[in-house]
Amino acid sequence: MSDQSTQEAAVRTALVTGATRGIGRAVAQDLAKDHVVFIGGRSAEDVERVRAELAGVGPGTRPFVADVSSDEQVAAAWAPLREEFPELNVLVHSAGIAPQSPVADAPREMWEKIFDVNVISVAQLTRLVLPQLRAAGGDVVAVNSGSGFTANPSGALYSGSKFALRALTDALREEERGNGVRVTSVHPGRVATDMQRELHDYMGREYRAEEWIRPEQIAAAVRLAVDATRDAEVEVVTVRPSGMV
Ligand SMILES: NC(=O)c1ccc[n+]([C@@H]2O[C@H](COP(=O)([O-])OP(=O)(O)OC[C@H]3O[C@@H](n4cnc5c(N)ncnc54)[C@H](OP(=O)(O)O)[C@@H]3O)[C@@H](O)[C@H]2O)c1
Repeated sequence: MSDQSTQEAAVRTALVTGATRGIGRAVAQDLAKDHVVFIGGRSAEDVERVRAELAGVGPGTRPFVADVSSDEQVAAAWAPLREEFPELNVLVHSAGIAPQSPVADAPREMWEKIFDVNVISVAQLTRLVLPQLRAAGGDVVAVNSGSGFTANPSGALYSGSKFALRALTDALREEERGNGVRVTSVHPGRVATDMQRELHDYMGREYRAEEWIRPEQIAAAVRLAVDATRDAEVEVVTVRPSGMV
């Protein structure tokens, strides 16, 4: 085998949704060191900005421009990648939304939107790329939340979606156990991102980024799962603010 074909055989690939900001961006930055990362985002401009930041970091990036709740956009974004890369080593679901509302005030549309983005889109994208994940013996990592375990006032929508996401990953993990695909659920507490700033606005509290987990620490949790040797599966990781800063 030539040097070039050896390198081609060794290239690892990762698709990260929500990679334009926050946790997904930190995960993409970390995985880009040793994966061709498909940068997921709704806006082509934002995706290209992240790709420019990562220029020269590792084996390269590709765009994955799609609203995850559009099957058509997702299929169109995936088609050229599937053509170029027969295998997918890592799929990280970080795209997510966190609207807050008491149950008394939440119309059907709010429920439908959050379950669409945080749950159904995760299932459908996973389903689409599962053949390439199986071919690679790949990893699915879902960025869940502490809210995937507990629910507080105004959190029925978000916790409801994250409880459902945990059910999805629990079931998928057992379905895929014999197929070589590992499934990890990462549960961050409050992380210093735009989402957390918006949650503080909703609660009427002052936001101080330094009090919360840095997105890079969630990327480290994803890395733990991805780098585990094949005898082990990192099933659930919880990362909470230490309260020490
Ligand atoms: N921040 C926290 O404290 C925290 C804690 C626990 C869990 N989480 C979870 O971590 C994940 C990432 O959160 P974050 O804090 O990084 O949020 P963020 O800063 O608000 O970023 C959200 C990302 O998701 C993308 N996104 C949202 N809706 C989308 C859609 N329909 N299609 C495609 N992309 C979409 C956004 O893209 P655009 O740039 O196009 O809007 C953005 O890249 C979420 O699943 C969230 O529930 C966050």
